[in-house]
Amino acid sequence: MLTRRDFLATAATVPLASAARAETGSLRKAAAAHGRLYGCATNNFALRESDFKTALLREAGVLVAEYEMKRNAVELAQGHYDFAPADALVRFAEQNGLKFRGHTLVWYHSNPSWLEEAVRGTRDEKLFTGYIGATMRRYRGRVQSWDVVNEAILPKDGRDDGLRKSFWLETFGPSYIDTAFHAAREADPGAELVYNDWGCEAGGAEHDCYRAATLKFLEGAKARGVPIDALGLQGHLQAFGTRIDQAALRRFLDDVKALGYRILVTEHDVDDSGGPSDIAMRDRVVADASARFLDVVLANAATTAVLTWGLSDRFLAGPGLKTWLAGYSPRMLPLDAGLNRTPMWRAMMRAFTVSRATPPRI
Ligand code: XIL
Repeated sequence: MLTRRDFLATAATVPLASAARAETGSLRKAAAAHGRLYGCATNNFALRESDFKTALLREAGVLVAEYEMKRNAVELAQGHYDFAPADALVRFAEQNGLKFRGHTLVWYHSNPSWLEEAVRGTRDEKLFTGYIGATMRRYRGRVQSWDVVNEAILPKDGRDDGLRKSFWLETFGPSYIDTAFHAAREADPGAELVYNDWGCEAGGAEHDCYRAATLKFLEGAKARGVPIDALGLQGHLQAFGTRIDQAALRRFLDDVKALGYRILVTEHDVDDSGGPSDIAMRDRVVADASARFLDVVLANAATTAVLTWGLSDRFLAGPGLKTWLAGYSPRMLPLDAGLNRTPMWRAMMRAFTVSRATPPRI
């Protein structure tokens, strides 16, 4: 099999025409050519900019709401749902032939201010099973894949099971996760149900603990018959942090696949904070980090999709937009603020192209 190293060695000598052709391709087409989906998180503000919308429709085959489907954007007052912003994004995807991922239904973060007190006070499971049912039934058949539970694992909280001590866990015990997935399966039997988290990507002892705790959780869920279809690796990398331990990541993903789960990369970006001011240098390290990560993930036949958390740097530090890494001018996504393809875009194109695995279709 052509290794990525061999490919890059030959790619370095690829005729200019092919390189130019590569520049005119798209991540969506490169992914689809190898049985995968590429897409990105976006929001209604970004879609107001026509040049960005054009670039997004060229590059993405699946969308996820950056925040419009978070519970603090939907259920500001208990029992009163405002799905209009989420509806607008789902409608945009449908009108443009794009798939859609739902994010997220049960999380310890981004909840309306009334929720935690109501959960701790009433201990009523319908406070999450009801929300799951209402939301998933609304988008039944229109949202193909859901992050049902997000970030429930946190080994440094010190529990034997490695779970995060959230108000969900402290109120209902570990079984809240199983309950959430059963409620999701009942709400939309045709949707892909994903457990989504971060921490399994990089090398080092802390991330080894995340991988061990995640595998232990997935093994237990499988043994209990919990309807989880896939593991979502958020894929938030640090260009100037701990390098990807490709061997550890490969072993982990092989074990996930052996348990019968599919794998998605759900929120890939490469934080370049801490890097030099020289843009070309930062871009090169960002691209290498993405390649080292995707090289391993896409070599696994269970991987079906890669989404980045945004498509362009334009909206990462914009005034007025609450972004998740605001505060400096980052270069951490496939397109820069001017919508130019970055070395990360080229690294992702190669990663999709080199990967030969033919994963199961969603
Ligand atoms: C972030 C969004 O980017 C912000 O706009 C929002 O205010 C908070 O959430 N992991 C996740 C995502 O699962 O939901 C987070 O997105 C980023 C970290």
